[in-house]
Amino acid sequence: MWDYTDKVKDFFENPRNVGEVDRIDGVGEVGSLACGDALRLTIQVDSSLGKIEDAKFQTFGCASAIASSSALTEMIKGLSTQDALQITNKDIADYLGGLPKEKMHCSVLGREALEAAIADYLGEAPKKEEGEVICECFGVTDRDIERVVIENNLTTLEEVTDYTKAGGGCGSCHEKIEALLYRIMTKRQQEAQEAEAPPKKLTNIQKIKLIDETIDREIRPALKTDGGDIELVDVEGDLVLVALKGTCSTCTASQFTLKDYVEQKLKEFVTEELTVVEVKQ
Ligand code: FES
Repeated sequence: MWDYTDKVKDFFENPRNVGEVDRIDGVGEVGSLACGDALRLTIQVDSSLGKIEDAKFQTFGCASAIASSSALTEMIKGLSTQDALQITNKDIADYLGGLPKEKMHCSVLGREALEAAIADYLGEAPKKEEGEVICECFGVTDRDIERVVIENNLTTLEEVTDYTKAGGGCGSCHEKIEALLYRIMTKRQQEAQEAEAPPKKLTNIQKIKLIDETIDREIRPALKTDGGDIELVDVEGDLVLVALKGTCSTCTASQFTLKDYVEQKLKEFVTEELTVVEVKQ
């Protein structure tokens, strides 16, 4: 017997929003009876506000599938379609106070149905069609697995099966799933290492080049619209020496232009350490 939370039991015994909405603006159908779980989610959207005003579900599945689907409909009612798309399978499980790990695939099914229903409402192609099918038994693609692995920090084949069902049938896909897991984890490790690495220090030549490019692209065009201009005179360490030209050279607000505009742009596109100083020529 699974260890269900009181909320899961409540949503299973008293499911909210069963059936079909009055006016179907979007429908998401995921899973299949052959695979054991199937979910059909219909949504009614107030198009003037872009908000989901009603959502209902029909499912063939276990207590967790019913509770997850029902919880999902409660969660999305009143949300904009954009906000609803931010809901993850973990949010659905959390809403229910957790699900047994072997039943986490029910929350993933809910998230997939939601995305499919909103894609249908927006007239977009369902995301499910993308990717290479890794598990033929359950029709699970590499993209499905990658997303669930990343969002839920999964590390083992068993966890992938709990969350997606992939690998829970004949088992012939186990090697492919292990290889995919290895690739995902290696990529995550590399990204974490890169994020931790200190930013590379610019050489003087790189810094001058970047300052010059930023002036050309971000600063000079704006000054020229008011009849002004700017010239890079020199760079000494983090000190940028510039000369203001045209109307900028006589403008009473030139120091504001230098500090609040020129210096801020250079800090944004080159490095935070820069200080801009005007030199008269
Ligand atoms: S192909 Fe994945 S379990 Fe059969």
